[in-house]
Amino acid sequence: MQVLVTGGLGFIGSNFIRHILGKYPQYNVTNLDKITYAGNPENLRDIEKNKNYSFVKGDICDAKIVDKLVEGKDIVLNFAAETHVDRSIDDPKRFIRTDVDGTHTLLEASRKHNIKKFIQVSTDEVYGSIEKGSFTEESALQPNSPYSASKAGGDLIARSYNKTFGVPVIITRSSNNFGQYQYPEKLLPLFITNLLEGKKVPVYGDGLNVRDWLYVIDNCEAIDFIMHKGAIGEIYNIGADNEKTNIEITKLLLSELGKDESSIEYVKDRPGHDRRYSINSSKLRKLGWRPRFKFEQALKDTVKWYKNNQNWWKKIKSGEYKEYYRKHYY
Ligand code: NAD
Ligand code: TYD
Repeated sequence: MQVLVTGGLGFIGSNFIRHILGKYPQYNVTNLDKITYAGNPENLRDIEKNKNYSFVKGDICDAKIVDKLVEGKDIVLNFAAETHVDRSIDDPKRFIRTDVDGTHTLLEASRKHNIKKFIQVSTDEVYGSIEKGSFTEESALQPNSPYSASKAGGDLIARSYNKTFGVPVIITRSSNNFGQYQYPEKLLPLFITNLLEGKKVPVYGDGLNVRDWLYVIDNCEAIDFIMHKGAIGEIYNIGADNEKTNIEITKLLLSELGKDESSIEYVKDRPGHDRRYSINSSKLRKLGWRPRFKFEQALKDTVKWYKNNQNWWKKIKSGEYKEYYRKHYY
């Protein structure tokens, strides 16, 4: 099986490639990644020399590179994206370019080369915010941030390439992931690393926004499951039913790291901040997938990983991210 993964030097993509190479020794994986601020070769240092793995530095918006790499592949999985909501508020264009145009470029090449499966890694954020109940795959898309709107654009273009041109697209919409190798701008790794550095954690608004937390390994297993057992043309929500307010998450981290509430700093709210994400993933569960990890244990393991891998995140925090961090939080 010849597999093209895009964005494989990021958080979920790198965990996914490690998972696939470990589980399927007969698969060859090519990783196309632009190495933006979020792409980090360190994330796959351990498998760099694996004979079934190759890396190409390049942009998913570059039709020439994309065409060359898609040719001869069986499956394309598109993880590459600009992913941080706060950055999308600062610079929407970058998000539209990669998350919409880039997805389109990959779909065009996949259409031309008769790819057998195209997995578009979308997000539950395309549905927008919900006060009560949970979104199903049939729910309307009402994205509220330039990030989620761009992801919705990519998601719908992918859908249209299936309906119009018969490209064998499957779309995944997962909830908020956490785990090893997550860039320390997202809630969990930012807060864990701040607390390890003896800094405060910036909670937006009243801290009562709700997210459904999914361990990254569970998401990788779900995408693997969908890649093998999912039906062409379908959309699958991937959730773990772990809804928590941000302040609940913050308190769990404080307790895990032996800190008290004096480490919390309430800061001004994010514009357009979605109040609650909640998805119903029974469609995927009926097919046979379910999350394997208990939230509390996965959170403990995640904290331990950041404790044991300080070089990984300290390099990031002392570099490019420093400016961004200063501008936003202090
Ligand atoms: P990430 O920001 O950690 O990594 C993104 C990767 O894409 C980086 O390696 C980056 O270099 C690469 N990239 C960005 N623009 C590119 C371009 N133009 N061409 C090639 N490579 C490019 O992101 P992540 O958290 O691993 O998310 C992966 C995917 O999963 C994204 O599509 C995201 O929308 C989706 N998703 C993420 C979450 C989450 O909680 N992190 C939840 C649901 C869905
Ligand atoms: P984030 O990790 O950016 O994911 P998303 O916004 O895509 O769900 O944020 C998760 C939640 O945590 C969200 O409600 C915003 C909040 N948050 C903070 O309160 N402080 C922070 O510094 C960050 C990054 C997020």
